[in-house]
Amino acid sequence: MKNIVILISGRGSNMQAIVEAAIPNIRIAAVLSNNENAAGLAWAAERSIATDSLNHKRFSSRLEFDQAMMEKIDAYQPDLVVLAGFMRILTPEFCRHYEGRLINIHPSLLPAFTGLHTHERAIEAGCRIAGCTIHFVTPELDCGPVIAQGAVPVFDDDTADTLAARVLKVEHQLFPQAVADFAAGRLKIIGNRVVRSPSAKLESQLLA
Ligand code: GRF
Repeated sequence: MKNIVILISGRGSNMQAIVEAAIPNIRIAAVLSNNENAAGLAWAAERSIATDSLNHKRFSSRLEFDQAMMEKIDAYQPDLVVLAGFMRILTPEFCRHYEGRLINIHPSLLPAFTGLHTHERAIEAGCRIAGCTIHFVTPELDCGPVIAQGAVPVFDDDTADTLAARVLKVEHQLFPQAVADFAAGRLKIIGNRVVRSPSAKLESQLLA
């Protein structure tokens, strides 16, 4: 059984998708947040999943917050830490501590559009395809080895909100598959690439 700790900052729909996928041989050990009012915390607590929060504003430095968060996370002895809409830039110390067992979902086709406001930027850049990326986390923001990507079309009348909704549906499909593949030992990092063993269920997708 693999212990998974999920970090969220808000609504937590990706966390919900992972929980509801009922992935074999994993246990959602806890859902943690930097925001005690994150809607996803209440959702998890209602399902008897351990929840906790730490307000980053109460810490005088990014590193102090990350160290306190690491203590909370490590109490659950995680095999995998999943960033599911966790809206914090992480220190190199945090990233190194969980090297090879920390994954993130980012709402763009990396390496395009690292950082925030990805959907607005994809529309402004005239992209015809947008999407999401699940990747291992390294100290450089949104740059770690890519596990999976899902693509959707961008339509002429899209707004950031309509595009975000289309991408989110793909996020909810890919993220549980990525967690399942990690838990089953099907993902290997070689250099800055992820090589999936032949039995990996995960394929990148082009979805309309
Ligand atoms: C998702 O779009 C994710 O890609 C981004 O933040 C959003 C989180 O949504 N990092 P939710 O909290 O999972 O609903």
